[in-house]
Order: sequence, then C-alpha cells, then structure tokens
Amino acid sequence: MTEFSRRTFMMSAAALSALAASGKVAFAELPKLAKKDKYKVGFAQTESNNPWRIAQTNSMKEHAEKNGYQLVYTDAASSAAKQVADVNSMIAQGVDLIFLAPREEKPLIPAVMAAKKAGIPVILLDRNVDPSLAKPGEDYVTFIGSDFIQEGQRVAEWLAKNANGKSKIIELEGTTGSSPANDRKKGFDDAINKAGGFTILASQTGDFARDKGRQVAEALLQAHPDADIVYAHNDEMAIGAISAIEAAGKVAGKDIIVLSIDGGKEAVGLCAEGKIAAVVECNPRFGPKAFETMARYAKGETIEPWVKNVDKFYDATNAKAELADAY
Ligand code: AHR
Repeated sequence: MTEFSRRTFMMSAAALSALAASGKVAFAELPKLAKKDKYKVGFAQTESNNPWRIAQTNSMKEHAEKNGYQLVYTDAASSAAKQVADVNSMIAQGVDLIFLAPREEKPLIPAVMAAKKAGIPVILLDRNVDPSLAKPGEDYVTFIGSDFIQEGQRVAEWLAKNANGKSKIIELEGTTGSSPANDRKKGFDDAINKAGGFTILASQTGDFARDKGRQVAEALLQAHPDADIVYAHNDEMAIGAISAIEAAGKVAGKDIIVLSIDGGKEAVGLCAEGKIAAVVECNPRFGPKAFETMARYAKGETIEPWVKNVDKFYDATNAKAELADAY
C-alpha cells in the first residue's frame, strides 16, 4: 500500500466508525432465524479448565439434546485466536445460530461480525464483547448473562459490613481483557473506595485459573505480608489463594478473609467450613435461557439487549444449607 492509499484507507475507516458511533449509518441488518423443527446450532466455548465452564457446557449440551437439535461444540482451549477460528469453522459448516462465550472483549469482535456477514445470528453467552465495537440488536441478537459489576459490588458491600477491622486487600483478577475481569474489578473497586477505610495493596491477574491464582497469591502475600483480605474474581483463584495462605503459615478465614465469585460446590463447601467468607454466585446453567431465547427469536420477537441471570449469595449464614444445590 502506498503512503497515500494507506492514509486514505485510515481516514475512511475512521470516518466510518465515527458515523457508526453517531448512529447515522445503518450497516446490514441483524440476521433473522427461520422457523424450523430442528436446528444445527454452534456453541463456541472459551475453555474447559474449571467446574464453572464444565457446568455451562453440560447445561448447553443437555438442552440442545432436549430440543433434538444438533450441537456443533468447540473448545477454544483458552485462546481467543482459536475461538475466532472455531466460529469461522461453524460458519463454514452452515449452522443456523451461534452461541458464543467470548473469551475476551475485543479479539472476538471479528467473529461476531463474520457471522453477521454470513447471515448467521449470534447470541452472546456469559461474557460480553466491547460495547463500542458491536451492539445487541444490531450486530448480535442479545447478551445472556450475569451483572458482573453488581457481583463485584455485592462482595464489596458484604466486606464493608463484615471486615472486623481487616482492611488490606489483595485482588486476584480474571483473564485480562475479559468482561468479567473488567467488570468485577470495577464493581468491587468503586464500592470499596466508596465505603472507605480499605486499601487495595495489589491487583494482578490470575487468569481465572487455580494454579496461576495460587502462584500470584503466593508472590503477593510475600510482597505484602500485612495483607488480611484476598478478593478473587472466581472460585478457582480463591481456592488457589487458600493454598498460598496455608503455605505462608496463615489461616484462611481467621488471619485472612477470602472472598470469591462463582459459587461452585467446592467453594460453597469451603464457605461452610469457614475458609471462604463469602461467595457471590455466577450462575452457569445457561441451557434453559439460551434455547428459550433462541425460540423467541425464531418466532420473530424482538429480544431485549440483555437477558439477565439472577445470582445467589453465600456466606456462613446459608452455605451449609445451600451446598446440595450448588453446581
Ligand atoms: O465468564 C464467567 C467466568 O468465567 C467465571 O467466573 C469463571 O470461573 C469462568 O472462567
């Protein structure tokens, strides 16, 4: 590309996105879904390295089967690039609709746009894409999932009431660039700053993974021996952090308050034992809502931009009683 054509291309791209942002340009319409008895649907999962993902996948498979639909399932194995390729492969296989759990907010935009261009509707599950680059009702049908900002807020609000003088926080963030990591941080940090009296000593990613969470917690506990609170963006990292706390010769639930999000059986069990102080559930049972929303869309209904999941809350007051119901 010559310097002139490169500049012209960049100027027109910038002009187009400015027009799009102003709402004055209507790009191709959201693809429709024809009414059929049986569908071939894609589910592009991000990874399968934790109980939350496995519960989500099982719920989707179970409900695809209940409806008698053919499910094309892919596992991106923690790679956004593979997930884009997985969606492209679903497009090539001619699926009727794609359920996508986008690993990160920006890198999955090309996948959403490619499906739209191919005339295949996309429903985002559990994680969102960057709202300035793709929009529900225009580029994809809807986002089905929890309010991650509220999850972070609920943890902070619980802490503000139950800290008992503890105040120095280590925060273990989820996958960098993912909507739950961005929003759980925002919800928690804003609410904790508003409450006052707390300090976030360090905030670092543990990539939503148990062993990475353990390693990061170990390093941060060494760097900040005065830390007395660990807030983890998911159960896996909270459980990893408990190992790090114990390796440092401290007692989780006594010396250090551990807080988590997800509400899997293991974490709710640890909450009943007192090692985790509080857990906000992030409901992974997507199957019923996903296929019901798809059916409503096929009937021609306009779907709301966000189909919200309702999450429970666990602490010492209810963890034992709720354990049997946790996933
Ligand atoms: O997007 C939801 C998050 O993704 C869950 O909290 C986490 O455990 C999963 O990997």
